[in-house]
Amino acid sequence: MTFDYRAFYRGRKVLITGGLGFIGSNLARRLVALDADVLLVDSLIDDYGGNLFNIDGIADRLHVNVADIRQQTTMNYLVRDRAVIFNLAGQVSHIDSMRDPYTDLEINCRSQLTVLEACRNHNPGVKVVFAGTRQVYGRPDSLPVDESQLVRPTDVNGINKAAGEYYHLVYNNVFGIRACSLRLTNVYGPRQLIKHNRQGFIGWFIRLAIENRPIQIYGDGSQLRDFVYVDDAADAFLRAGADDRCNGEVFNVGGNEAISHRDLATLLVKTAGSGRVEYVEWPADKKAIDIGSFYADSTKFKRTTGWAPGVSLGDGLRDTVAFYRAHFSQYVGPAAERA
Ligand SMILES: NC(=O)c1ccc[n+]([C@@H]2O[C@H](COP(=O)([O-])OP(=O)(O)OC[C@H]3O[C@@H](n4cnc5c(N)ncnc54)[C@H](O)[C@@H]3O)[C@@H](O)[C@H]2O)c1
Repeated sequence: MTFDYRAFYRGRKVLITGGLGFIGSNLARRLVALDADVLLVDSLIDDYGGNLFNIDGIADRLHVNVADIRQQTTMNYLVRDRAVIFNLAGQVSHIDSMRDPYTDLEINCRSQLTVLEACRNHNPGVKVVFAGTRQVYGRPDSLPVDESQLVRPTDVNGINKAAGEYYHLVYNNVFGIRACSLRLTNVYGPRQLIKHNRQGFIGWFIRLAIENRPIQIYGDGSQLRDFVYVDDAADAFLRAGADDRCNGEVFNVGGNEAISHRDLATLLVKTAGSGRVEYVEWPADKKAIDIGSFYADSTKFKRTTGWAPGVSLGDGLRDTVAFYRAHFSQYVGPAAERA
């Protein structure tokens, strides 16, 4: 069933943790356009996706608090008057979670309790939408993957994100903090980190194409993925935040079509008119946590909220390449290092 959530957000006090990051800042843009009262909380940790340029053009229409969600007293204060929290702050790199598991544990697992305890003690009427991930499934038993498949992560990040998600469900079921989780697949689009290659491959591929460098595909590139344009991901968060039928539930939020790494890279090179595809052996550390082919069945979320991805991969890649061509120095080089 479809419903119009736009009126719901007008004047409503919302908080986005991780709001200076890729998905958070695109969501903030949508909320500002809907005249919501928007507060972003982000620690701007080096090497993560937070970037002040991400709110270029809307900075005077929202509030930013540079703070760490690991800080209980800070979060107690910041959640107080908010009606909806989009809880997106996270350590996103799978490979970093294997090199430094404790930081991943602190941010993706323990600090989720910090946010939820702040809500329980200072704002129990709030609604929380958590940014979950398809990584919790690990290697799927069959494709496409729906929510009935086992949670069986292949890496530390997947374990901690699963724990963070389950805390939200428990706080919903036991303490009545209305919460749900969106298990996102591969999100792409403007404002994604591209200064290093440890946060998902698509942003990195886009950078390589723009710089006319070889795009390295591991193995034969036949593994499948589905991609969600960031505006469609933001739309999913907005629907979940406004719809109490989502409470206590997990939902896959994936793209309309599955595509192989090989075909994705070929499409990207064609779209950008630069770059080239190159095949290399799998690096051992990446092979060890690879999940093989994955694409999601998002029927449950579509049925519940009426959501449907609206942007095709071709159009999304074209717009993303154009965005980075226009703003490359904000995402790579000295300005990006300062961000
Ligand atoms: N991008 C994807 O494809 C994808 C897929 C699945 C799930 N997710 C989830 O979506 C969320 C957002 O991801 P993104 O791609 O926008 O990444 P991102 O790195 O661009 O955004 C995450 C933001 O969280 C902030 N942050 C990290 N630790 C923090 C802390 N302790 N306190 C305050 N802020 C902190 C970072 O500074 C960054 O701005 C993450 O939780 C991630 O796990 C993303």
